[in-house]
Amino acid sequence: MIEAEWWDYDSAEELTEAVAGDAQFVIESALDARGDAVVAFPGGSTPLAALDLLKKAKLRWKDVTILPTDDRLVPVQDKLSNVRMLAERFLPLGARVLPLTGGDLPVAEAGKAADARLQAVHWPLDFVWLGMGADGHTASIFPGPDLEAALTAPHRAIGVTPDPLPPEAPVARVTLTKSAILSARAVLIHITGAEKRKVLEKALKDGAGSKYPIGRLLADTSQAIDIHWCP
Ligand code: 6PG
Repeated sequence: MIEAEWWDYDSAEELTEAVAGDAQFVIESALDARGDAVVAFPGGSTPLAALDLLKKAKLRWKDVTILPTDDRLVPVQDKLSNVRMLAERFLPLGARVLPLTGGDLPVAEAGKAADARLQAVHWPLDFVWLGMGADGHTASIFPGPDLEAALTAPHRAIGVTPDPLPPEAPVARVTLTKSAILSARAVLIHITGAEKRKVLEKALKDGAGSKYPIGRLLADTSQAIDIHWCP
């Protein structure tokens, strides 16, 4: 059984405030301790309200580097692009927003290019904020031919092709690996709804033997994981 702390909220507003508050706190602490902060934020719909709240925080944004936990292999102007979503919110504040994807590379090369770019980043990450799909994927660590590599590769990022392709964004991706995620100074999981809660509880219970990627990911964590949830 993986040790994780659940933080339950009655409403979406309370959840949003708590997650944005935690992200602000971790960034402030990193800025105080090291002078800069490097953080990874998720795509998908769940984090949007909290990201909108976080961007109002008075922080030394010019010393903050933000990257997506994963991104879809689409042009940056595409509505499926996670880096576009982050850039729209945080570039105007002066933050550095780092893409995981770019150019027109095939998936494996896109992963290698992302890994190479991440070698130039202050490491480990100060903070990884994760979402989760109802199929138990997190970041873009999905069921499919690249699952084992995402869980075992020593690289910081790799290219993956989910199987089945997720209907909301049926494209190949680049994702932070388990090794990159678990090496972060702090990891937070942000989910909503009874269905996702059930999946995550089962994944935590089954750990390394889980059928869900997030269970396999968290099975090796040596740090406390905070899970923020509302119905
Ligand atoms: C992405 C993600 C992914 C996301 C989940 C949940 O697809 O870009 O980073 O891991 O967090 O799919 O997405 P929702 O919040 O939209 O349910």
